[in-house]
Amino acid sequence: MKRQLGPSDAFFPVPAALIVSGIEDKVNIITVAWIGIVGSTPPTVGISLEKTRYSLEIIRKSKEFTVNIPSADCFRETDYCGLVTGRNRNKFDDIGFTPNKSSRVNTPIIEECPYNMECRVTQEIVLGDWVLILGEIVETHIDVDKVSPSNRAKIDIPKVNPLVYCAEVREYWALGKRLGRGFHAGKEILQRTKK
Ligand SMILES: Cc1cc2nc3c(=O)[nH]c(=O)nc-3n(C[C@H](O)[C@H](O)[C@H](O)COP(=O)(O)O)c2cc1C
Repeated sequence: MKRQLGPSDAFFPVPAALIVSGIEDKVNIITVAWIGIVGSTPPTVGISLEKTRYSLEIIRKSKEFTVNIPSADCFRETDYCGLVTGRNRNKFDDIGFTPNKSSRVNTPIIEECPYNMECRVTQEIVLGDWVLILGEIVETHIDVDKVSPSNRAKIDIPKVNPLVYCAEVREYWALGKRLGRGFHAGKEILQRTKK
């Protein structure tokens, strides 16, 4: 038996990512949960920002941003960046995070976040009070101690320990245990159902 909840934006789990916008001493950080990879060739990320956000003003001018994935330990700093606007304050200073030079865009990445993406805006789609920004991912970075020692191309997920957010209930979580391999775990059913 099911209970109907009506139209809702509830979706879980989602990442809680830190988006950096701006350059030099005018940098800002916003927490976003409405974020996802929306294309692979070219690699593209979508972030949705409410029209009132200061970060949207900056990104509309600079046409670039960086996506920074915090580790679960940084849930307090992540929450802070979603509680206050950067219009009159520097959130980097407030939370003690360090802006690091990017290589393909002028907007910095966050040193304390283990995984970072440099993005250039390709499209903007207005969705009522929100704006979906699509950004081509032109470079990615990972902490050197968070790649697998045997395969340098493989991200060591337990070491990255990415922060997970459950919207609607508004709770931060960490990942649970590994269950199986993608594009593989369903093969048993594939064999069973093959005609
Ligand atoms: C967990 C969490 C997720 C959030 N997700 C979004 C989001 O996806 N899009 C958005 O516009 N605001 C989101 N917010 C709210 C903004 O982060 C918040 O309004 C922020 O203060 C805006 O900063 P700015 O004015 O400096 O850009 C989120 C806040 C939290 C705590």
